[in-house]
This record gives sequence, structure tokens and C-alpha cells, in this order.
Amino acid sequence: MLIKKPRDIKSSDITPESVYLDRRKLLQAAGLSGTAMLLPQAARPGDIPARYKKLEGVIKSHYSTSREPNSFEDVTTYNNFYEFGTKKSDPVDNSGNFKPQPWSVTIDGEAEVTGTFGLEDIVGPHTLEERIYRLRCVEAWSMVVPWIGIPLGDLLKRFKPTSKAKYVAFETIMRPGEMPGQRRSILDWPYREGLRIDEAMHPLTILATGLYGVALPNQNGAPLRLVIPWKYGFKSIKSIVRISFVETMPYTSWSDTLPREYGFYANVNPEVDHPRWSQARERPIGAGFFAAKIPTLMLNGYADQVAGLYTGMDLVKNF
Ligand code: MTE
Repeated sequence: MLIKKPRDIKSSDITPESVYLDRRKLLQAAGLSGTAMLLPQAARPGDIPARYKKLEGVIKSHYSTSREPNSFEDVTTYNNFYEFGTKKSDPVDNSGNFKPQPWSVTIDGEAEVTGTFGLEDIVGPHTLEERIYRLRCVEAWSMVVPWIGIPLGDLLKRFKPTSKAKYVAFETIMRPGEMPGQRRSILDWPYREGLRIDEAMHPLTILATGLYGVALPNQNGAPLRLVIPWKYGFKSIKSIVRISFVETMPYTSWSDTLPREYGFYANVNPEVDHPRWSQARERPIGAGFFAAKIPTLMLNGYADQVAGLYTGMDLVKNF
């Protein structure tokens, strides 16, 4: 793999909170009133365009939140996927030429079973679950999404990690021909993320292959992405082609590029502000631009389940 120095990324490449609602959302919000502004709108079946492939055999999970999901439109038209550009509307606008089929994933490093496997071999043996999780973005907005996926830990165990596997590293595909953002030095491509192995094995961590009952749209990380509900959204790496079991803390795109602003752990923690804005509150997307922000919960509301992973750690230092 080509190793490059982190490029000269400007802080302004991450959208400041004050401008994170793009024009599309402002126009949408302006058209809503009263309670319609306060509650995210769930997608009705007819709202999902027929071109998206339905996923069969999906079971409901008891890990789901009871919060109302955002609309299919919210979820698929407003997000970060810098491979397609830095604006919130770029992923949906610029991902039409991306080809998520055929797809393979390389598993390597400290494991007994390694190699390159087709998507069907990676996901096929597992039962798909619907997990309704709220994703809290580091930019202080949040969205509730009915993800479909498999527990990452169940998959990782199949490759029999050795005792040297202390971390798991993930890498996004490199395809500048189909991903216009990769033709610019926005980040040191490919996008990379990492988890401690116990975080990766935690039953809340999933590899998602779909949302709203259909295969993942290109703009949401097709065909395979992470979702880690107690961490800021940037840990949820998209369009994964490599999973590596490693002994030392791996390179991760945001925390290695801007270490003062983004930590390796990236646990949602309302008590640790981002250097340029507060993390104490968040704006639920779909509630309307003028709706009040809501308090952000420690570990995004999953403290009971995951706080034990961090016992004895200083979570201000390890942010
Ligand atoms: N993965 C890749 N490959 N490239 C990215 O730019 N952005 C991250 C994360 N995963 C990103 C990525 C950020 S900043 C966020 S907030 C989430 O994806 C957004 O995920 P969503 O599409 O579910 O909203």
C-alpha cells in the first residue's frame, strides 16, 4: 500500500455547525409547520424508489431504539461521504456512477483465516437484522436510521483472530474514476478507520448492508459499512474493502489528520467539546431548522451497554 503524508487539510473542510443545514434542508424546513416540524417523518413504503433492491429474510432486533426514524429522503440526501465531495448533498448528487457490484473484501493481519472474499461469502452466512440506531455526527446533528446488517463481531469470529489482534482496521475502496472527491486532496485517501477489538466485537457494532428494507444506496456506503451507535458518525466507515486485525492502534483518517479535533475513540461525550463548537446538544435532522436542539446523551444513550469498555480510562484525554 502506498503510504503518503497526511495532506494539508483545512479545518474548514469539516462543515461548521452554523452552516451544516444546506440549502435543500432550509427550503424543506421552510415548507413545514407546527408538529410536522418537530417530528422526523418515517418513510412510507411508496417513498422508497423501486430501483433499490429489497433485502429478504430480515429480522427485527431488540437493540433498536423506539425513536421515530427519519424519512428515507433525509437519510439518503443529507450526509457525509467525502469521496463524493464535501457538501451534504454531494453524496447523493455525485454517486450515480459508483458500482458496488461485484465487491470483495480482503481480510488480513493477525487471524488464522485470511484472504479475499466475495460479498456473498462475507455477509451470506449471517441473518440480516434491522437495527434502528441514532447516528450522532461530530458536527452536532443526529439522525435515526433503520439500518440492516449483521453484528460485526459474529463476522470477525469466523476469521479466528489471534491473541495479537488488539485492534481492527478498516479501509474504504479507492476508485477516483467513480468517486470525484478522491481526485482532490481532501483527505489522505483511502479513508481509514479503526476500533479496539473489544469495541469491534461488541454486539451493538454492526456491518450494515442496507437501510429501510433495501440494499444500501451508493451515497450511504454501498455495499458494506460500519455503524457504531455510541461513537461519532465519522467512525462509521463506508464502502469497506479491507478489514485488518492488527497489534497496534491503526491510522485513522480524521484523528491522524486533525488530532486536536478528532480522537481515536470518538465516543459521543457531551462533556468534551470540539475545539470549535459545543458537543452538549444536537439538532435532530428532520425536526426543522428552527426547532430546539436536544441534549446529547453520554455515549449516545448507550452508556449502560458500553461504558464498561472504558472503565479506568480518562475519557477527556481519550476523546
Ligand atoms: N466513510 C467514508 N469512506 N468517507 C467519509 O467521508 N464520513 C463519515 C462516515 N463515514 C465518511 C465515512 C462521517 S463524517 C459521517 S457523519 C458518517 O459517515 C455519515 O454517515 P451517514 O451516511 O450514515 O449519515
